[in-house]
Amino acid sequence: MFRCISKPILRTEKIVKILVAITGASGAIYAQRLLDNLNPAQHEIHVVLSHYAQQVIAEELPAGLQLPPGVIAHNIKSMNAPFASGSNPPDVMVVIPCTMGTMGRIAHGYSEDVLLRAADVVLKEKKKLILVPRETPLSLIHVKNMELLLLAGATILPANPSFYAGAKTLQQLADTVVSRVLDHLGIANELAPRWEREKE
Ligand SMILES: Cc1cc2nc3c(=O)[nH]c(=O)nc-3n(C[C@H](O)[C@H](O)[C@H](O)COP(=O)(O)O)c2cc1C
Repeated sequence: MFRCISKPILRTEKIVKILVAITGASGAIYAQRLLDNLNPAQHEIHVVLSHYAQQVIAEELPAGLQLPPGVIAHNIKSMNAPFASGSNPPDVMVVIPCTMGTMGRIAHGYSEDVLLRAADVVLKEKKKLILVPRETPLSLIHVKNMELLLLAGATILPANPSFYAGAKTLQQLADTVVSRVLDHLGIANELAPRWEREKE
């Protein structure tokens, strides 16, 4: 019998600079729900989308991506974003959902657009990089890239929703993943039910 105990959640008090990077993996809803649950009045929130993210968003989000007021969007082709430089990194970068392509490019230090450069900056400046990959099955190349990223200090938080909480909608199911992302950002949330006690 397994037992899950709720972990204490860190509470953030200072303004944290958060970069949300969205790539062309299935699961655009994860990015939308993360943005819906970040507060631009409390944190500085930046967003950047890969070219293919736009295609997947068009397939998966009927209303398109909704950026909450106060969120700062950046052009992936411009290096004129603050986080392109190690002198102004975000505190946390989340790549959600993360393709195997972007994961591989980050693992191998490609920096040809501002999303990849930001990930490179976050790793070298020892800030927090959270990757939310979505792919199945995984090849050895994917797993080796994940190993490299773990060794470099990244957090790999796969988009694997949990079913024990009885989600009834796609949003509730997506929130079981987004809740864990918020936990790793140190943002208190009750987005998804937590396993609290052993059931006899
Ligand atoms: C509808 C759709 C769903 C996709 N889902 C995935 C996926 O779940 N994981 C993945 O690694 N690639 C997926 N791809 C392929 C990527 O979009 C493609 O490899 C692209 O080059 C990734 O570029 P990016 O990493 O810059 O976003 C999907 C593509 C489309 C059109």
